[in-house]
Amino acid sequence: MKQYLKHHEWHIIEDGLNPHYNKISESVFSLGNGRMGQRATFEEDYSGETHQGSYVAGVYYPDKTRVGWWKNGYPEYFAKVLNAPSWIEIKIKIGDQTLDLAKCKVEKFRRVLDMQQGLLHRAFTATLPDGKKISVDSKRFCSMADGEIGAIRYEITPLNFSAPITLTLPVDADVVNKDSNYDEKFWEEVSKEATPGLAIVNAQTKKTLFQVCTGIQYDIQRNGKSITGNVTTNLREKYADNVVVTDLQEGTPLVIFKYAAILSSENHPKDQMVKHCKAKLKEAVAAGFDKLFADHAKVWAHKWEECDVTIEGDVAAQQGIRFNIFQLTQTYTGEDERLNIGPKGFTGEKYGGSTYWDTEAYCLPFFLSTAEPKVARNLLVYRYKHLGKAIENAQKLGFKDGAAFYPFVTMNGEECHNEWEITFEEIHRTSAMAYAMRDYIDYTGDKDYLTEFGLEVLIGIARFWNQRATWSEDKGKYVVLGVTGPNEYENNVNNNWYTNYLGAWTLRFAREAVDYVKTSNPKRYAELVTKTKFEEKAETDRWKHISDNMYYPYDAKRKVILQQDGFLDKELIRVKDLKPEDRPLNQKWSWDRILRSCFIKQADVLQGIFLFEDDFDLDTIRRNFDFYEPMTVHESSLSPCVHVILASKLGYKEQAYEFYLRTSRLDLDDYNNDTEEGCHITSMAGTWMSVVKGFGGMRVRDGKLHFTPFIPDQWKSYSFRLEFRDRVIKVKISSDKTETILEHGEPLEVMMNGKPVLLKK
Ligand code: BGC
Repeated sequence: MKQYLKHHEWHIIEDGLNPHYNKISESVFSLGNGRMGQRATFEEDYSGETHQGSYVAGVYYPDKTRVGWWKNGYPEYFAKVLNAPSWIEIKIKIGDQTLDLAKCKVEKFRRVLDMQQGLLHRAFTATLPDGKKISVDSKRFCSMADGEIGAIRYEITPLNFSAPITLTLPVDADVVNKDSNYDEKFWEEVSKEATPGLAIVNAQTKKTLFQVCTGIQYDIQRNGKSITGNVTTNLREKYADNVVVTDLQEGTPLVIFKYAAILSSENHPKDQMVKHCKAKLKEAVAAGFDKLFADHAKVWAHKWEECDVTIEGDVAAQQGIRFNIFQLTQTYTGEDERLNIGPKGFTGEKYGGSTYWDTEAYCLPFFLSTAEPKVARNLLVYRYKHLGKAIENAQKLGFKDGAAFYPFVTMNGEECHNEWEITFEEIHRTSAMAYAMRDYIDYTGDKDYLTEFGLEVLIGIARFWNQRATWSEDKGKYVVLGVTGPNEYENNVNNNWYTNYLGAWTLRFAREAVDYVKTSNPKRYAELVTKTKFEEKAETDRWKHISDNMYYPYDAKRKVILQQDGFLDKELIRVKDLKPEDRPLNQKWSWDRILRSCFIKQADVLQGIFLFEDDFDLDTIRRNFDFYEPMTVHESSLSPCVHVILASKLGYKEQAYEFYLRTSRLDLDDYNNDTEEGCHITSMAGTWMSVVKGFGGMRVRDGKLHFTPFIPDQWKSYSFRLEFRDRVIKVKISSDKTETILEHGEPLEVMMNGKPVLLKK
C-alpha cells in the first residue's frame, strides 16, 4: 500500500516527483474519452521508469498463443489491446541540453488530475545540468465532446537565461507492446507526411488490418502572438515530425498548443483516413484550446450531474468514489455498441483490453443506473452480435445444435484466453450474459429486449447447459463436472455450487423468455423458431428436467452451501491465521499448494448469493457469509465489493466499511501492488455498487426501487443519483434522516425500509 497521493474531493494530486512511483501515477492519472486514451506519461523526454501507452478502443492484435503444452481447443491467439501511435510528445532541447526530468534538479513538481473537468495538469521547475532553470505548466485532455480529438497546452518559461530552444513535435507509430508474446511490432506504415505545421502517420495493424491515422498540428505563441520559428520536417519509418527552433527569452513564457486527431478505420473508410484526419485537425485548430476544453468540460459537467456520488465528512472516501466514477466514465461512454469495457480501460495493457464477464456481472449496474437505458442496452447488444461466434466457440469444444458458449476473454466474440482452467472450465461466464438481461429488464422494464435480441441468445446458452450438465445415476441428479467457479483458486472441481445454480437458473429463465415472446409476439417467435431450429417441446422439457433436478452440494451439519464436492475434506483455516509473509498467496505459494488449500480468491458461493439474494433467507446468507468470508483472501479486485453488499445487508457495518475502503482506493493507494500495470476498472464499478447497493441497500423488485440505507460512522452524509424509468432520483442519507428527491419525471412510489413512499416534485 502506498499513500503518496494527496486527498482532495475533486482532484488527484501528486506533490513532488516520485520517480519510483511514476508508473503508478501514469496509470492513475490516465485520460480517456471512450474512443481513445493514454497513460499519464510526460510530454517531454523521460529516461526514468515509465511505460508509454496510448490506446484506441476496439483496435487489437491477435498475438499468436504461446503455451508450453498445447491442448486441443486452445484459441490460436490472445487478443492484445495495442499500444497505439503516440501524439503527446513535445521534446525539448535548450541549447544542447535535453529536458529530461530524470536528469534535472526538479522542484515544485505537481501533477493533478482534475476529475471534475477531465484535465491532466502538471507543473514543475527544473534546473538543467548546465544550470539553466525553467518552469513548465502543461495541461492536456482527450475530448469527451469529440472522441477523436486530444489537445495539449504546454507553457515553458526560462527563469534565469535566454537561449535557443528546439521543440520536436512528433507522431510516432513505431511503438511496441510490453505485452507481446514474440516481441513483434504490431504496426505497419500505410502513409506519412510532414509539412511545416503538420505531421501525420497512418498506420495499420498486422493481421487485423485496423488503420489508425494520427495527425498533429500546433501553434506556438509568445506574448499571446503566434510565432513560426525555424521549422524543419522529418520522416522516418512510421514516424513524422516538425522540429521548430525559436528563442526562449528570460521571464517570457513560450506556449505550445499541440492538437491531435486520432481516427480509426472502424469509423472512417480506409481511403479517406488522411483526408478526414486533416479536416478534423483543421476544425480543432480553428476552435482553439480554450473552446475545445470548454466543450469537453461541459460534457464532464453533464456526466457528473448524472452519476456523481457525494460523501461528506471523509475526503479520502469522496476522492475514492469520484476517481472510480471518473475512470469508468472515460472508459465507456456507451455510444458505440461495438465497444466494451476492458478491465484496464485506457490505463494499461494487462488483460489485453478485452471483454470479460466483468462487464455483465459488475459494470452493467453502474451504467444502468447512471445513464440512459440505451447505454446498458448497447452492452447487451454487443453480446447479441457475438452470438454466432459463441456458437462457434462451443462447436470447437464439441458442443452442437446451436449451443452457445460465450468466451471468457474476447475482442470480437472469439475466445482468446488460453489457460485450460479458464478457457474450458470457467463456464459460469456464459450465463453472465443471461443474468445481465434479467438485470436490465428488472431495472428498465424493457421486456421486449427478449423479443428483439434476448431470446435468441438464451436459446443458445440454454442449449449449452443442456449438453454440459450430465445425469448422475449415483445421485439421481444432474451434475456439472470439471469446472472452475469464480474462485480461480480451485480448478477442475465437480459441482461448483455457483455454476450449478446459475446453470439451472438460466434454463428456467430461458423457458420464461420462450413463454413471453411466444405470447407477446407470435410472429417474431415463429421467426426465431425457424432461425434457431428450435424444437420447443422437446428442448424446454429437457431444460425443465435439468433445472428441477440439479444437484447442489450442501453440508447439513453446518447448514451451509458447499462451494463444490469435497470442499469439507480440506483443512479449514482462516485467513487471519496465515502468516503475513504468506500473502498474497498468488505470489508466495506454489499453484499446487493454493489449489489444495481452502483459500478463496474471490466471492464464489457468496457471488451466487449476491446475484440471487432473494432466493435465500437472512439466516442462510449469514451462515454462508460467516463460513466463507474468513477463508477468502480477496486476491481478485472483484471480491471486496460483493462482500460490502452482503455485509451491509447483514448489518456488519464495520466490516462493510473496511471492504469498501479496499475497493474504493484500490488503485489510489496501490493496495495490490499492481497499479503500475493499469487501474482496475471492473472493481471501480464494484465500488459504485458498494455505495448504492451496499450502504444504500438499493434493489429493484417487481419494477419498484427499494432502499434500506445505513451510513458508515465515518461519514456525515452521502448521496447518489439514479436514472430509473424516465425519472431522476436523488437519495441523500445522513445519520438522522434519508431524503429521496424526485428531480425529474412523473411521481413514483419507492420502498424505503419496507414502507411505500410516494415521490413527487
Ligand atoms: C478474476 C476474474 C476476472 C479477471 C479480469 C481475475 O483475477 O479472477 O474473475 O474476470 O480477473 O478482471
